[in-house]
Amino acid sequence: MITSPPSALRPVFATRVLTGDRPTGQLHLGHFFGTLHTRVLLQEQGIDLFVVIADYQTVTDRDSPRSLPYDVEELVADYLAVGIDPTRATIFAHSLVPELNQLLLPFLSLATLPELLRNPTVKEEATASGMTALNGLMLTYPVHQAADILFCKGTLVPVGSDQLPHLEQTRAIARRFNRRYAQEGPVFPEPEALLSEAPALLGIDGRKMSKSRHNAIALAASADETARLLRAATTDSNPHIAYDPDHRPEVSNLVLLTALCEETDPGQVAEEIGARGAAELKRRATKAVNERLRPIRERRAQLINDRGQLRAILREGSTAAREIAQHTLAQVSTAMHTNY
Ligand code: TRP
Repeated sequence: MITSPPSALRPVFATRVLTGDRPTGQLHLGHFFGTLHTRVLLQEQGIDLFVVIADYQTVTDRDSPRSLPYDVEELVADYLAVGIDPTRATIFAHSLVPELNQLLLPFLSLATLPELLRNPTVKEEATASGMTALNGLMLTYPVHQAADILFCKGTLVPVGSDQLPHLEQTRAIARRFNRRYAQEGPVFPEPEALLSEAPALLGIDGRKMSKSRHNAIALAASADETARLLRAATTDSNPHIAYDPDHRPEVSNLVLLTALCEETDPGQVAEEIGARGAAELKRRATKAVNERLRPIRERRAQLINDRGQLRAILREGSTAAREIAQHTLAQVSTAMHTNY
Protein backbone atom coordinates (compact mmCIF):
# COMPACT_ATOMS: atom_id res chain seq x y z
CA MET A 1 0.00 0.00 0.00
CA ILE A 2 1.32 3.44 -0.89
CA THR A 3 0.77 6.20 1.64
CA SER A 4 2.25 9.66 1.73
CA PRO A 5 5.36 9.87 3.92
CA PRO A 6 5.01 11.33 7.40
CA SER A 7 5.68 15.05 7.52
CA ALA A 8 9.10 14.51 9.08
CA LEU A 9 10.23 12.79 5.88
CA ARG A 10 8.95 15.45 3.48
CA PRO A 11 11.55 17.67 1.86
CA VAL A 12 12.30 20.87 3.71
CA PHE A 13 12.98 23.71 1.36
CA ALA A 14 16.19 25.61 1.98
CA THR A 15 15.85 29.37 2.25
CA ARG A 16 16.15 30.82 -1.20
CA VAL A 17 15.38 34.41 -2.10
CA LEU A 18 13.86 35.31 -5.46
CA THR A 19 12.86 38.77 -6.51
CA GLY A 20 13.15 40.98 -9.56
CA ASP A 21 12.25 44.03 -11.60
CA ARG A 22 10.88 44.99 -14.96
CA PRO A 23 13.53 46.44 -17.27
CA THR A 24 11.69 49.67 -17.97
CA GLY A 25 14.43 52.14 -17.03
CA GLN A 26 16.87 52.95 -14.27
CA LEU A 27 16.15 51.98 -10.66
CA HIS A 28 15.47 54.78 -8.19
CA LEU A 29 15.59 55.58 -4.48
CA GLY A 30 12.20 53.94 -3.92
CA HIS A 31 13.65 50.65 -5.16
CA PHE A 32 16.81 51.18 -3.17
CA PHE A 33 15.15 51.57 0.23
CA GLY A 34 12.29 49.24 -0.76
CA THR A 35 14.01 46.02 -1.76
CA LEU A 36 17.54 46.49 -3.15
CA HIS A 37 18.93 47.14 0.28
CA THR A 38 17.26 43.99 1.68
CA ARG A 39 18.55 41.85 -1.18
CA VAL A 40 22.12 42.83 -0.45
CA LEU A 41 21.68 42.23 3.30
CA LEU A 42 20.34 38.73 2.62
CA GLN A 43 23.17 38.01 0.21
CA GLU A 44 25.67 39.13 2.85
CA GLN A 45 24.12 36.63 5.25
CA GLY A 46 25.03 33.87 2.82
CA ILE A 47 21.46 33.23 1.59
CA ASP A 48 20.99 32.10 -2.02
CA LEU A 49 19.75 35.11 -4.01
CA PHE A 50 18.03 34.98 -7.42
CA VAL A 51 17.14 38.16 -9.30
CA VAL A 52 14.89 38.05 -12.36
CA ILE A 53 14.96 40.73 -15.02
CA ALA A 54 11.31 40.40 -15.91
CA ASP A 55 11.44 41.25 -19.61
CA TYR A 56 8.23 39.37 -20.46
CA GLN A 57 6.40 41.52 -17.91
CA THR A 58 7.26 44.67 -19.84
CA VAL A 59 4.95 43.61 -22.67
CA THR A 60 1.88 43.51 -20.43
CA ASP A 61 1.03 47.11 -21.28
CA ARG A 62 3.39 48.23 -24.06
CA ASP A 63 5.20 47.08 -27.17
CA SER A 64 8.67 45.70 -26.67
CA PRO A 65 10.90 48.71 -27.38
CA ARG A 66 14.09 48.79 -29.42
CA SER A 67 15.79 50.11 -26.28
CA LEU A 68 15.19 46.86 -24.37
CA PRO A 69 18.78 45.53 -24.57
CA TYR A 70 20.00 48.91 -23.34
CA ASP A 71 17.40 48.96 -20.53
CA VAL A 72 18.44 45.45 -19.46
CA GLU A 73 22.10 46.49 -19.28
CA GLU A 74 21.15 49.52 -17.17
CA LEU A 75 19.35 47.24 -14.75
CA VAL A 76 22.30 44.85 -14.44
CA ALA A 77 24.55 47.88 -13.79
CA ASP A 78 22.18 49.10 -11.05
CA TYR A 79 22.20 45.66 -9.40
CA LEU A 80 25.98 45.36 -9.39
CA ALA A 81 26.44 48.98 -8.27
CA VAL A 82 24.29 48.51 -5.15
CA GLY A 83 26.27 45.40 -4.21
CA ILE A 84 24.53 42.38 -5.72
CA ASP A 85 27.50 40.13 -6.38
CA PRO A 86 27.18 37.86 -9.43
CA THR A 87 29.67 35.38 -8.00
CA ARG A 88 27.18 34.70 -5.22
CA ALA A 89 23.80 35.78 -6.64
CA THR A 90 22.11 34.64 -9.87
CA ILE A 91 20.89 37.42 -12.18
CA PHE A 92 18.84 36.16 -15.14
CA ALA A 93 16.18 37.19 -17.66
CA HIS A 94 12.87 35.51 -18.57
CA SER A 95 13.78 35.40 -22.25
CA LEU A 96 16.95 33.41 -21.60
CA VAL A 97 15.26 30.70 -19.48
CA PRO A 98 12.71 28.88 -21.71
CA GLU A 99 11.92 26.16 -19.15
CA LEU A 100 10.79 28.78 -16.65
CA ASN A 101 8.33 30.08 -19.22
CA GLN A 102 7.13 26.55 -19.92
CA LEU A 103 5.94 26.25 -16.32
CA LEU A 104 3.34 28.89 -17.13
CA LEU A 105 1.24 26.31 -18.95
CA PRO A 106 0.56 23.83 -16.13
CA PHE A 107 0.35 26.75 -13.68
CA LEU A 108 -2.41 28.38 -15.73
CA SER A 109 -4.52 25.29 -15.11
CA LEU A 110 -4.17 25.95 -11.38
CA ALA A 111 -5.41 29.55 -11.39
CA THR A 112 -9.07 30.46 -11.73
CA LEU A 113 -10.53 33.24 -13.86
CA PRO A 114 -12.32 34.93 -10.93
CA GLU A 115 -9.11 35.16 -8.90
CA LEU A 116 -7.20 36.54 -11.88
CA LEU A 117 -9.90 39.14 -12.50
CA ARG A 118 -9.90 40.11 -8.82
CA ASN A 119 -6.16 40.87 -8.57
CA PRO A 120 -6.09 44.54 -7.46
CA THR A 121 -2.55 45.22 -8.73
CA VAL A 122 -3.42 43.99 -12.22
CA LYS A 123 -6.59 46.12 -12.18
CA GLU A 124 -4.63 49.21 -11.18
CA GLU A 125 -1.94 48.66 -13.79
CA ALA A 126 -4.50 48.07 -16.52
CA THR A 127 -6.31 51.29 -15.57
CA ALA A 128 -3.08 53.29 -15.29
CA SER A 129 -1.96 52.17 -18.75
CA GLY A 130 -5.21 53.37 -20.29
CA MET A 131 -5.91 49.91 -21.72
CA THR A 132 -9.45 49.61 -23.06
CA ALA A 133 -9.47 45.81 -23.21
CA LEU A 134 -7.42 43.67 -20.83
CA ASN A 135 -4.94 41.54 -22.81
CA GLY A 136 -4.19 37.93 -21.92
CA LEU A 137 -0.70 38.54 -20.58
CA MET A 138 -1.79 41.45 -18.37
CA LEU A 139 -4.44 39.15 -16.89
CA THR A 140 -2.11 36.18 -16.38
CA TYR A 141 1.29 37.68 -15.63
CA PRO A 142 0.86 36.96 -11.90
CA VAL A 143 0.84 33.27 -12.90
CA HIS A 144 4.02 33.79 -14.89
CA GLN A 145 5.44 35.53 -11.82
CA ALA A 146 4.61 32.36 -9.86
CA ALA A 147 6.86 30.52 -12.33
CA ASP A 148 9.63 33.08 -11.63
CA ILE A 149 9.43 32.27 -7.96
CA LEU A 150 8.73 28.55 -8.06
CA PHE A 151 11.13 27.38 -10.80
CA CYS A 152 13.98 27.85 -8.31
CA LYS A 153 11.80 26.95 -5.29
CA GLY A 154 12.08 30.44 -3.84
CA THR A 155 10.92 30.60 -0.23
CA LEU A 156 11.34 34.30 0.49
CA VAL A 157 10.34 37.18 -1.80
CA PRO A 158 11.39 40.74 -0.88
CA VAL A 159 8.75 42.98 -2.47
CA GLY A 160 6.63 46.07 -2.01
CA SER A 161 3.06 45.67 -0.74
CA ASP A 162 1.67 46.04 -4.30
CA GLN A 163 3.11 42.59 -5.02
CA LEU A 164 1.26 40.80 -2.19
CA PRO A 165 -1.65 39.69 -4.42
CA HIS A 166 0.88 38.04 -6.77
CA LEU A 167 2.45 36.26 -3.86
CA GLU A 168 -0.95 34.97 -2.72
CA GLN A 169 -1.50 33.70 -6.27
CA THR A 170 1.90 31.98 -6.18
CA ARG A 171 1.13 30.31 -2.87
CA ALA A 172 -2.21 29.07 -4.17
CA ILE A 173 -0.53 27.60 -7.27
CA ALA A 174 2.17 25.85 -5.22
CA ARG A 175 -0.44 24.46 -2.82
CA ARG A 176 -2.74 23.25 -5.61
CA PHE A 177 0.13 21.70 -7.59
CA ASN A 178 1.35 19.80 -4.54
CA ARG A 179 -2.13 18.63 -3.65
CA ARG A 180 -3.08 17.58 -7.14
CA TYR A 181 0.14 16.06 -8.44
CA ALA A 182 2.73 15.58 -5.75
CA GLN A 183 1.55 12.69 -3.62
CA GLU A 184 5.12 11.78 -2.74
CA GLY A 185 5.94 15.03 -0.98
CA PRO A 186 5.68 18.63 -2.13
CA VAL A 187 7.47 19.76 -5.28
CA PHE A 188 7.06 23.46 -4.47
CA PRO A 189 7.39 25.52 -1.28
CA GLU A 190 4.76 28.14 -0.39
CA PRO A 191 6.90 31.28 -0.46
CA GLU A 192 6.60 34.15 1.99
CA ALA A 193 6.76 37.87 1.22
CA LEU A 194 9.41 39.92 2.95
CA LEU A 195 8.15 43.50 3.24
CA SER A 196 10.62 46.31 3.82
CA GLU A 197 10.47 47.83 7.30
CA ALA A 198 11.01 51.32 5.96
CA PRO A 199 7.78 53.16 5.09
CA ALA A 200 7.35 53.67 1.33
CA LEU A 201 9.13 56.68 -0.15
CA LEU A 202 7.06 59.09 -2.21
CA GLY A 203 8.25 60.92 -5.31
CA ILE A 204 9.23 64.61 -5.27
CA ASP A 205 5.60 65.57 -6.01
CA GLY A 206 4.23 63.62 -3.04
CA ARG A 207 2.73 60.82 -5.15
CA LYS A 208 4.06 57.23 -5.27
CA MET A 209 7.63 57.28 -6.61
CA SER A 210 7.70 55.80 -10.09
CA LYS A 211 9.55 56.23 -13.35
CA SER A 212 6.39 56.78 -15.33
CA ARG A 213 5.31 59.67 -13.08
CA HIS A 214 8.65 61.46 -13.62
CA ASN A 215 8.95 62.12 -9.91
CA ALA A 216 11.75 59.69 -9.07
CA ILE A 217 15.42 60.21 -8.23
CA ALA A 218 17.36 57.56 -10.15
CA LEU A 219 20.33 55.88 -8.49
CA ALA A 220 22.25 56.87 -11.62
CA ALA A 221 21.23 60.56 -11.50
CA SER A 222 24.11 63.03 -11.15
CA ALA A 223 24.61 65.08 -7.98
CA ASP A 224 23.45 68.21 -9.85
CA GLU A 225 20.37 66.50 -11.22
CA THR A 226 19.55 65.30 -7.69
CA ALA A 227 19.88 68.87 -6.37
CA ARG A 228 17.65 70.20 -9.15
CA LEU A 229 14.97 67.55 -8.52
CA LEU A 230 14.95 68.12 -4.79
CA ARG A 231 14.82 71.92 -5.19
CA ALA A 232 11.65 71.41 -7.21
CA ALA A 233 10.10 69.04 -4.62
CA THR A 234 6.62 69.91 -3.35
CA THR A 235 6.43 71.14 0.26
CA ASP A 236 3.67 73.02 2.10
CA SER A 237 2.99 76.49 3.49
CA ASN A 238 3.88 75.73 7.11
CA PRO A 239 7.41 77.18 7.58
CA HIS A 240 8.21 74.94 10.54
CA ILE A 241 9.54 71.48 9.57
CA ALA A 242 8.02 68.52 11.44
CA TYR A 243 7.73 64.79 10.81
CA ASP A 244 4.00 64.18 10.47
CA PRO A 245 3.38 61.78 7.57
CA ASP A 246 -0.42 61.79 7.99
CA HIS A 247 -0.91 65.53 7.85
CA ARG A 248 2.19 66.75 6.00
CA PRO A 249 3.09 63.95 3.57
CA GLU A 250 5.40 65.91 1.23
CA VAL A 251 7.57 67.51 3.93
CA SER A 252 7.64 64.29 5.94
CA ASN A 253 8.74 62.38 2.87
CA LEU A 254 11.80 64.64 2.46
CA VAL A 255 12.56 64.22 6.15
CA LEU A 256 12.25 60.44 5.82
CA LEU A 257 14.47 60.36 2.74
CA THR A 258 17.13 62.35 4.62
CA ALA A 259 16.89 60.08 7.66
CA LEU A 260 17.13 56.90 5.56
CA CYS A 261 20.24 58.21 3.79
CA GLU A 262 21.85 59.40 7.02
CA GLU A 263 20.71 56.27 8.89
CA THR A 264 19.15 58.41 11.58
CA ASP A 265 15.66 58.94 12.91
CA PRO A 266 13.17 61.15 10.99
CA GLY A 267 11.95 62.80 14.23
CA GLN A 268 15.47 63.93 14.97
CA VAL A 269 16.08 65.27 11.46
CA ALA A 270 12.85 67.29 11.65
CA GLU A 271 13.77 68.70 15.05
CA GLU A 272 17.21 69.77 13.88
CA ILE A 273 15.75 71.65 10.92
CA GLY A 274 12.64 73.01 12.65
CA ALA A 275 12.22 76.73 12.01
CA ARG A 276 14.96 76.80 9.37
CA GLY A 277 12.30 75.72 6.95
CA ALA A 278 11.88 73.96 3.63
CA ALA A 279 14.92 75.42 1.86
CA GLU A 280 17.19 74.04 4.58
CA LEU A 281 15.36 70.69 4.47
CA LYS A 282 15.97 70.45 0.73
CA ARG A 283 19.64 71.35 1.12
CA ARG A 284 20.08 68.71 3.79
CA ALA A 285 18.17 66.08 1.78
CA THR A 286 20.33 66.78 -1.28
CA LYS A 287 23.54 66.40 0.67
CA ALA A 288 22.30 63.21 2.35
CA VAL A 289 21.22 61.57 -0.92
CA ASN A 290 24.36 62.55 -2.79
CA GLU A 291 26.63 61.30 -0.01
CA ARG A 292 24.74 58.05 0.38
CA LEU A 293 24.77 57.37 -3.36
CA ARG A 294 28.28 58.61 -4.18
CA PRO A 295 30.05 55.20 -3.96
CA ILE A 296 27.17 53.50 -5.78
CA ARG A 297 27.28 56.09 -8.56
CA GLU A 298 31.02 55.80 -8.90
CA ARG A 299 30.82 52.03 -9.23
CA ARG A 300 27.95 52.31 -11.67
CA ALA A 301 29.81 54.75 -13.90
CA GLN A 302 32.66 52.24 -14.19
CA LEU A 303 30.37 49.29 -14.87
CA ILE A 304 28.38 50.98 -17.60
CA ASN A 305 31.60 51.51 -19.57
CA ASP A 306 31.71 47.79 -20.29
CA ARG A 307 28.30 46.76 -21.56
CA GLY A 308 29.74 43.54 -22.99
CA GLN A 309 30.70 42.48 -19.49
CA LEU A 310 27.19 43.30 -18.18
CA ARG A 311 25.66 41.11 -20.88
CA ALA A 312 28.13 38.32 -20.13
CA ILE A 313 27.09 38.38 -16.47
CA LEU A 314 23.44 38.16 -17.46
CA ARG A 315 24.08 35.26 -19.83
CA GLU A 316 26.05 33.36 -17.20
CA GLY A 317 23.37 33.87 -14.57
CA SER A 318 20.71 32.80 -17.05
CA THR A 319 22.63 29.61 -17.89
CA ALA A 320 22.76 28.73 -14.19
CA ALA A 321 19.05 29.54 -13.80
CA ARG A 322 18.29 27.42 -16.84
CA GLU A 323 19.86 24.31 -15.34
CA ILE A 324 17.67 24.69 -12.28
CA ALA A 325 14.59 25.34 -14.42
CA GLN A 326 15.29 22.17 -16.44
CA HIS A 327 15.51 20.16 -13.26
CA THR A 328 12.25 21.58 -11.89
CA LEU A 329 10.47 21.07 -15.20
CA ALA A 330 11.58 17.41 -15.19
CA GLN A 331 10.09 17.00 -11.70
CA VAL A 332 6.87 18.63 -12.88
CA SER A 333 6.75 16.33 -15.92
CA THR A 334 7.18 13.27 -13.73
CA ALA A 335 4.49 14.43 -11.33
CA MET A 336 2.12 15.18 -14.23
CA HIS A 337 2.86 11.90 -16.07
CA THR A 338 4.16 13.69 -19.16
CA ASN A 339 7.74 12.41 -19.26
CA TYR A 340 7.41 9.84 -22.06
N1 TRP B 1 6.11 42.42 -10.78
C1 TRP B 1 7.34 42.92 -10.19
C2 TRP B 1 7.30 44.46 -10.30
O1 TRP B 1 6.55 45.00 -11.09
C3 TRP B 1 8.60 42.40 -10.85
C4 TRP B 1 8.74 40.92 -10.71
C5 TRP B 1 8.73 40.01 -11.73
C6 TRP B 1 8.92 40.16 -9.51
N2 TRP B 1 8.88 38.76 -11.27
C7 TRP B 1 9.00 38.80 -9.91
C8 TRP B 1 9.01 40.51 -8.16
C9 TRP B 1 9.15 37.79 -8.97
C10 TRP B 1 9.17 39.48 -7.22
C11 TRP B 1 9.23 38.13 -7.63
O2 TRP B 1 8.06 45.10 -9.61
